[in-house]
Amino acid sequence: MRTRIPSRFPVPIIQFAERNDIPELVRVWLAAERTNLLMFYHFPTEESRSEYAEQAIKVLDENFDDPHLLLLKAVDPDTSRITAMAVWQKRGYGQPSAQSEDIFAGAGDSDQIPLERYIDTQFKRFLASWAQNSKHLYLALLMTDPNFQRRGIGTAMLEWGHKHADEAGIPAFLIASPVGHPLYQHVGWKDVDTPLQIDLSQWAAGAQGGDMGWGVYKYYYMLRMAKTAAMPE
Ligand SMILES: CC(C)(COP(=O)(O)OP(=O)(O)OC[C@H]1O[C@@H](n2cnc3c(N)ncnc32)[C@H](O)[C@@H]1OP(=O)(O)O)[C@@H](O)C(=O)NCCC(=O)NCCS
Repeated sequence: MRTRIPSRFPVPIIQFAERNDIPELVRVWLAAERTNLLMFYHFPTEESRSEYAEQAIKVLDENFDDPHLLLLKAVDPDTSRITAMAVWQKRGYGQPSAQSEDIFAGAGDSDQIPLERYIDTQFKRFLASWAQNSKHLYLALLMTDPNFQRRGIGTAMLEWGHKHADEAGIPAFLIASPVGHPLYQHVGWKDVDTPLQIDLSQWAAGAQGGDMGWGVYKYYYMLRMAKTAAMPE
């Protein structure tokens, strides 16, 4: 009987993205978010999602030269196709406070809808109390193209950040979506603080007084200590 050699996926190449990759990165981002309940909530139509994509391209382009923004792409070695994108931010490095915030929080617009504003405020509260002004790495985005998920690409993107944080001896923070949470646990991140629970029936227009099928969306606050971090005395 022939021994079956287990199939293995090609090891992704993790690189800094180039400016002209931005539209493709945003395509991967929106494809990965297609089944995200909150995306439906915020952008219920194709038109509103296209507008959001344009806004996201603009935000990434405007921030592209920021040395504290680490914009990564994963490339499939066989096809050279971009299969995932990640945004790590170096925070607490003395940059002006506006830049040290999550660049995607509300995409910087003043006419945020109330739920966006609420989420944004809660995220800021978490980072202010846990990271304060100390140097840390923050994972603002991690998206794998749905056609390439469960092949270790998200893990490779995280390991890139882990190496960076370990070399700098700094902690890393992220706020996990329900879909991302198992991955982060899998690679050793720890839950801290009480998760943010959003009962969408309290927010969705027309949902109150009748169950429109909205559920409770949960965000998990997570921390990873640097391997090199000194243990508290
Ligand atoms: C979360 C996400 C980035 C994971 O990317 P990925 O490239 O598929 O991740 P990996 O292949 O490295 O997953 C490694 C491990 O994490 C866990 N994991 C990843 N996705 C999972 C899922 N959907 N359900 C349960 N466990 C999951 C598994 O343990 C997996 O190992 P296994 O495949 O051997 O079981 C991807 O599902 C995605 O883009 N989702 C939509 C966007 C999103 O929610 N991003 C996170 C924002 S915080």
